[in-house]
Amino acid sequence: MNKKITIAIDGFSSTGKSTIAKLIAKKYNFIYVDSGAMYRAITFFAKQNNFVGKDFLKKAELISELKNNSLSFQFNKQLGFAEMFLNGQNVEKEIRRLEVSQLVSKVAEISEVRRKLVKEQQEMGEKGGVVMDGRDIGTVVFPNADLKLFMTASADKRATRRYKELIDRGDKVSFKDVLFNVEERDRIDSTREDSPLTKAKDAIEIDNSDMGIQEQFERICTLVDRKLKEI
Ligand code: CDP
Repeated sequence: MNKKITIAIDGFSSTGKSTIAKLIAKKYNFIYVDSGAMYRAITFFAKQNNFVGKDFLKKAELISELKNNSLSFQFNKQLGFAEMFLNGQNVEKEIRRLEVSQLVSKVAEISEVRRKLVKEQQEMGEKGGVVMDGRDIGTVVFPNADLKLFMTASADKRATRRYKELIDRGDKVSFKDVLFNVEERDRIDSTREDSPLTKAKDAIEIDNSDMGIQEQFERICTLVDRKLKEI
């Protein structure tokens, strides 16, 4: 029988959490949930409806519209991972743009948004066999997760990776703006009142500033295998 555990991966922005989470989910046949994509989708909705912008946030309006939004992940066989759908529309490309990254931490501070998304995330992980990445997975969403990881890397390394990703996709961005965004999101995410980004007491920290994907993957597989033997 395929044993099922819950793996929580938290950490700073652009630490490669989703890359590693997808690989782990594939190897162990677990479900991968990108919780950040859900915050990004709500932010995309808020931006489209003019509820959020560089200098404003119409919090009450956004909160009252939350119940009318449905989020779902739909597996794309070709890509090998699930894409984010908002009210039936594939928003995977839009939510990754820097314009959304520049507003998402402001929206993620709203408790009503968090409550809705945390509930949906907990439902997705109910049966176990899940790898979820985000900012509050090991602290709030799954405080009893079997394995908790906390990813860090220098801001410069993270911005370099994200800049390359965006340029490779054809987005026109400057390194300076990407670096600013990475640092600004870390600041807002770590200092917000509701569910700030912190390392859970029982999380294992991995600094991947000078570590390749393969090395991280092997290290994490060792941790997963050890956990699977325990249960
Ligand atoms: O991929 P990257 O590290 O850039 O970010 P993400 O995982 O897509 O998350 C985008 C933003 O959503 C974060 O900067 C947080 O503001 C918010 N977020 C959150 O508050 N809680 C989560 N569990 C996941 C994301």
